[in-house]
Amino acid sequence: MIHIENLETPFIKKAGKLVAKVFPFRSLSERLTFFAFKHQHHWIVQWIMSLFGVASLSHFWVAIDDDNNVVGITGIYTYEKDKDEAIWMAWFCVDPGHRGKGIGKRLIEYSISKARESGKKYFRLYTSSDPNEAAAQNLYEKYGFNIVKKKKKMFYTKLYGELVL
Ligand SMILES: CC(C)(COP(=O)(O)OP(=O)(O)OC[C@H]1O[C@@H](n2cnc3c(N)ncnc32)[C@H](O)[C@@H]1OP(=O)(O)O)[C@@H](O)C(=O)NCCC(=O)NCCS
Repeated sequence: MIHIENLETPFIKKAGKLVAKVFPFRSLSERLTFFAFKHQHHWIVQWIMSLFGVASLSHFWVAIDDDNNVVGITGIYTYEKDKDEAIWMAWFCVDPGHRGKGIGKRLIEYSISKARESGKKYFRLYTSSDPNEAAAQNLYEKYGFNIVKKKKKMFYTKLYGELVL
């Protein structure tokens, strides 16, 4: 059985490993996510996050199996530039060995309900045109996210999605 719970310290390392496995090409700021999450109340970490425009790493939730493996993750955070109106989705993914069993749907529904609780107007995310992220595009579309912006990068296109909450 899979259950979803708050990401607490004992699972942070496993969560980081899952994200590193699914998203090997992360930027420097993205690589700092779980370190920053763990130490988010420290002023130095808050200062570093502010350099990247991040206002807060609000919450992460993990899907855990019976053997205490982290098999999926999702999270929400805010950017300084739009923190009054939007909350952003972070690191939504499922371990490749556990896909196709409904975990992704449970996590996205969970994220949307938490985003609604935040009282913001928009739930935003970014993803990419990478074929490895195609399943996620379908899912985002199904749950009402629209692509509102595209940014051409050297090897892929960065897609910005938005759901009106
Ligand atoms: C997107 C992702 C989280 C889905 O997780 P999952 O646990 O396999 O999802 P589910 O089992 O809940 O299936 C959700 C839907 O996706 C469909 N799906 C699953 N794998 C698919 C694939 N490879 N291609 C197309 N659709 C797929 C399922 O059929 C289902 O649709 P349905 O309701 O019409 O049957 C997972 O594929 C993943 O981690 N992808 C890589 C990470 C990623 O791209 N994250 C988001 C980008 S920022």
